Amino acid sequence: MVRHFLALHDFSKEELDSLLVFAKDLKDKQKQGIPHRLLDGKTVALIFEKSSTRTRVSFEVGVFQLGGHGLFMPSGNSQMGRGEPIKDTARVMARYCDGVMIRTFGQEIVTEFAEYSGVPVINGLTDLFHPCQIMADLQTVIEHKGSYDGLKFAWVGDGNNMANTWIEAAAILGFDLTLACPKGYEPDAAVMAWAKSRASSRILLTEDPREAVKHADVLNTDVWASMGQEAEQQKREKAFKGYCLDDALLALAKPDCIVLHCLPAHRGEEITDSVIESRNSVVWDEAENRLHIQKAIMARLIGCS
Ligand code: CP
Ligand code: NVA
Repeated sequence: MVRHFLALHDFSKEELDSLLVFAKDLKDKQKQGIPHRLLDGKTVALIFEKSSTRTRVSFEVGVFQLGGHGLFMPSGNSQMGRGEPIKDTARVMARYCDGVMIRTFGQEIVTEFAEYSGVPVINGLTDLFHPCQIMADLQTVIEHKGSYDGLKFAWVGDGNNMANTWIEAAAILGFDLTLACPKGYEPDAAVMAWAKSRASSRILLTEDPREAVKHADVLNTDVWASMGQEAEQQKREKAFKGYCLDDALLALAKPDCIVLHCLPAHRGEEITDSVIESRNSVVWDEAENRLHIQKAIMARLIGCS
């Protein structure tokens, strides 16, 4: 059976934990120069309908390190960008490639792509979810804190694709997550309802950033206007006043807390320069771990490791 990586809710706690262990193993191997050509001779198409630095480079380098070939496909240069149906593109791509990563707008696009694809499809970000990023974030938390168990996670800012994916992770893995979002910018209601229905769910939503970060071990934020929302930038700047992760908020968290940001960051908006450059910030490790966790995801789904 073809297995896709479209959303964390398709995976059990055991499966996600196992991917995190596998990613550490692959990271160790790469650092020690031990070959791990788990995608030898395989091709993974990398389709982008939105901009990217980290996702594009980490997937392309990751496939190369696994012995395969990453095929960069900006949708503007393909027939997809001229309206060729998703279901047609998906079936054709599966005849040439062993796997597909896609970054796009609606979650329904990756769902339809996967439905028609005979090869594994990986979600490289949609408006709803960013599952590869949250897996990299969890790998970073484990590296710095030993485990995610027993930690208090805080989200400050927009209830966007990152927030929605954190909610799924918290519900599946069973850690404490408090999200502070302004009124009208809450996370997706269906994602929240699904998470709250799970016995392991310990998720709180507040409008007060101070409540979220108080005694937190892991602080996380993201831009106020995501890709596709550029026209709302000014309106959002007003709505998100007070939701900047600054020194005052950092001081309320545990002194040894870590600060995550998926990047790109807008210094002075959702996070200050002094917080992102502080000793609590682990954003560069977080960016690096995109490479390792995605190698684990690809090797498991496409290389069957
Ligand atoms: N964090 C992240 O997905 O970065 P890019 O948009 O640069 O890929
Ligand atoms: N929420 C951001 C994440 C970028 C990696 C966006 O969707 O643009």
